[in-house]
Amino acid sequence: MKGIILAGGKGSRLYPMTLSVSKQLLPIYDKPMIYYPLSTLIKCGIKEILIISTTDDLPIFKRLLGDGSQWGCSFCYESQNFPKGLADAFIVGDEFIGNSNVTLILGDNFFFGGNFENEIISRKYLKGGFIFALRVSNPKRYGVIEFDNDFNAVGIEEKPKRPKSPYAVPGIYCYDSSVVSKAKSLNFSERGELEISDINKAFLNDTNLEVKVLNENTIWLDTGTVDSLMKANHFVETLQKRKGILVGSPELSAFQSNFITKETLLILVESMAESKYGKFLKSNL
Ligand code: DAU
Repeated sequence: MKGIILAGGKGSRLYPMTLSVSKQLLPIYDKPMIYYPLSTLIKCGIKEILIISTTDDLPIFKRLLGDGSQWGCSFCYESQNFPKGLADAFIVGDEFIGNSNVTLILGDNFFFGGNFENEIISRKYLKGGFIFALRVSNPKRYGVIEFDNDFNAVGIEEKPKRPKSPYAVPGIYCYDSSVVSKAKSLNFSERGELEISDINKAFLNDTNLEVKVLNENTIWLDTGTVDSLMKANHFVETLQKRKGILVGSPELSAFQSNFITKETLLILVESMAESKYGKFLKSNL
């Protein structure tokens, strides 16, 4: 299983904060936003990761994340010249994906708890598509799944005016390599995007889409608006300061996934010993 982090887009809902800085580089509490989805992929046991962003922002991501070897990973980078939609990640990532399975995570999505990473680990050899569904209070903002009486998924709609259920699809998706040809045959939606919901519909129509409903122990935040960004900041502060749980740490996740040894982790920690993040990381060892 390979991974893709989609970290482009205009970030226009966060202007002027994102006029000169990519949204996914903004801080959430003590670390850049992209650390959170990156740590999620690493916890899923994924080492080979493609980071997609705009041509302007890619050099900054490269400076921040390097080639991934410091965390036992291998990172590569591709630019998306225009925000054509989430499904474009599979066209941009065509060569990177090759014949592998792939997990796409959105660069502004934050996941915590619920142990859902194990669901992904156990689908390394997936055939078809695998997505999650999570009950939310505002489904109109998301891709929404319709279920029949036996809780089988029977439809998916992107940002429906009248949602057929309260179950949204969060921004982490797993597919086999047939996702590339599915993405290439999509048409642009009314809002001018290649929609991830249309990819999911294509797998559903082939009766090849598994939907796992996550329980309420899973926290999912998307950090694309000022309010949700603030909420994410407070949430991480609460977890770290009050509960003493470190989240969004690629170093810790890489160690927990056995990508790096304790010795390497200690060297990484020492290189950041002066920051709050470094100190907290050290206290978690
Ligand atoms: O957050 C989950 C939702 O994400 C799903 O439920 C929806 O089905 C899915 O369409 C998506 O909806 P959003 O409207 O929230 O996506 P947004 O346009 O905000 O893009 C999500 C991230 O992907 C964001 O970090 C920017 C990045 N992006 C977006 C587009 C359209 C790109 O890098 N390239 C793009 O072309």
